[in-house]
Amino acid sequence: MTQKLVCKIPSSSYHYEIEIGSGLLNLQTPYLNSLASRFAIITDDKIASLYGEQLQECLAFSGLEVYLFSFPNGEQYKARGTKELLENQLFEKGLGRDTCVIALGGGVVTDIAGYIAATYCRGIPLVMIPTSLLGMVDASIGGKTGVNVPYGKNMLGCIYQPKKIVIDLSILKSLPKKELANGVVEMIKHGLIADSRLFEDLNSHSNQILALDAAILQKAIFESCRIKKEIIEQDEKENGKRRLLNFGHTIGHALERLTQYSLPHGEAVAIGLLVESYLSVKLEILNPTSFDRIKKILLQYGLPLQLPSQFPIQTILDAMTLDKKSLKGQPRFIIINAIGSPLAYDSSYCTCVEESLIKNALHWMNDDLCCH
Ligand SMILES: NC(=O)c1ccc[n+]([C@@H]2O[C@H](COP(=O)([O-])OP(=O)(O)OC[C@H]3O[C@@H](n4cnc5c(N)ncnc54)[C@H](O)[C@@H]3O)[C@@H](O)[C@H]2O)c1
Repeated sequence: MTQKLVCKIPSSSYHYEIEIGSGLLNLQTPYLNSLASRFAIITDDKIASLYGEQLQECLAFSGLEVYLFSFPNGEQYKARGTKELLENQLFEKGLGRDTCVIALGGGVVTDIAGYIAATYCRGIPLVMIPTSLLGMVDASIGGKTGVNVPYGKNMLGCIYQPKKIVIDLSILKSLPKKELANGVVEMIKHGLIADSRLFEDLNSHSNQILALDAAILQKAIFESCRIKKEIIEQDEKENGKRRLLNFGHTIGHALERLTQYSLPHGEAVAIGLLVESYLSVKLEILNPTSFDRIKKILLQYGLPLQLPSQFPIQTILDAMTLDKKSLKGQPRFIIINAIGSPLAYDSSYCTCVEESLIKNALHWMNDDLCCH
């Protein structure tokens, strides 16, 4: 059964639909027809052959003018250079303001294609068709687009809402298990910051979710998308509540950068969730039993929770100073007092923590989560 969520952005009285179901990829022609006269599918090389060519053929067969553009898969290609190359390819085809971008891929594709749509001819319509679980439950929702620069992750970009998000569960069949687990990390995060029931469902149905049981997976994806869109509706520009979605990312982004992105986003955030929960325990706000449950669920989904090497504490601290929640160079953290219950800190939803405590948590990470 196809389910729908509507994401309402109060500041601009704008809303868009998130459609969730199976076999939706080839059913979009009537809707697309109403958006633009030409279409640019932007994807990575892997998805181009798995689904891109099929989508292009299907839309072309229905009479739409449609082009397919792809770039090599991998986080290292979420860069300014890739954006420029793709934009030049669109210009060379003579595509203008009458074009709609279809972002077809994982979070790397939806971030970069979204950023292109936001700036190309000062903004053209964007439809998101996420293909990774992480893209479905997180990256495609909320309008954040951007690229990485050598100074940090996602440091260039903007918020640009799509016209529609299409989540087709049948696409997940080809997703490697490791990537599936990376997506589950963000669902666990949603449970931790907003809804203990989602956490419990993910906890008790891990086998079914990893086996792609359609009904259970769709329910978990729906709930996860609902949580994210409800937070976006309250704080589109990340001045408060939206920061909660950053739980685990202060440490996670620093680790991605320090490993030159060889540590996948989901695995880095899984370690980040654990270390930032450890901080909540050290602050005597979260009980150690909940911390153990968080570690257990991450392991249950096959997350390695292992650093490739230990990192000097000061190097990690330095890597965190550019985090968007930092205040005068001091990192700030989301703190939870129970599963599903974050602290509001006067509506800033994050707080500075004594440096000695951060160092303590980073030492724990180096000692307990490093394979060497
Ligand atoms: N904008 C946001 O709000 C937001 C939120 C969370 C994460 N992100 C970003 O998302 C990115 C991570 O996304 P990701 O984990 O999807 O990475 P990704 O896009 O690199 O995809 C991971 C790999 O899986 C492959 N893949 C994707 N779907 C597939 C499918 N159905 N079948 C087979 N292979 C498939 C891709 O080709 C790639 O090799 C990061 O850059 C992160 O910063 C953005």
